Amino acid sequence: MQLFLDTANVDEIKEINAWGVLSGVTTNPSLVVKEGKDFKKVVKEICSIVDGPVSAEVTDEDVEGMVRQGLDIATWAENVVVKCPLTANGLSATSQLSKKGIKVNVTLCFSANQALLAARAGAYFISPFVGRLDDINQDGSALVAEIVEMYHMQGLETQVLAASIRTPVHVTQAALAGADVATMPYKVFKQLVKHPLTDAGMALFAADWAKANQPVSAKK
Ligand code: E4P
Repeated sequence: MQLFLDTANVDEIKEINAWGVLSGVTTNPSLVVKEGKDFKKVVKEICSIVDGPVSAEVTDEDVEGMVRQGLDIATWAENVVVKCPLTANGLSATSQLSKKGIKVNVTLCFSANQALLAARAGAYFISPFVGRLDDINQDGSALVAEIVEMYHMQGLETQVLAASIRTPVHVTQAALAGADVATMPYKVFKQLVKHPLTDAGMALFAADWAKANQPVSAKK
């Protein structure tokens, strides 16, 4: 399973990218607005940092507008992926854009049937929103597993991108379900690497090393 960052913050992307484990980035209008920067500028900057797909979402709601925006976004960088919402209009736009060879990430997916529609429309990624389903007392991780199984049974090639990840447990569940990608906020990425026993182990090694390497006079 590939690991993506869900952010439009360039500093966060640079930091996690330096770990050598980052395979892509997803953004959405809320995340872009939060940064207070020009949409095109920030997407192009992210695309130049990350060696992998970077999703940028259309904001129009009618088919013509989404297709027009999608065609424009697709020219911004080689690795940009156009994000379209899982509405009837979004499916039409996805179908038109994917027929032109443009990669589309269909976002705001909350059911297996929606995921089936997105795949039939030619989506490159489908983004089931795990956390937002959990928020309404439904099992978001179970939906990821259901879509993975359904795509496998149906021979559909759309990649399953687990989104709206809120906790490290969501990441493990997505990986065990066979998701192709999990996209997560910076905070969750940082949580993945941390373990108290790793910290304790490091402290012990450092203390032992310091003892063994202190001046001879201090050892007595
Ligand atoms: C995915 O591409 C979305 O940007 C994102 O995962 C939404 O997450 P949220 O539900 O935490 O806003």
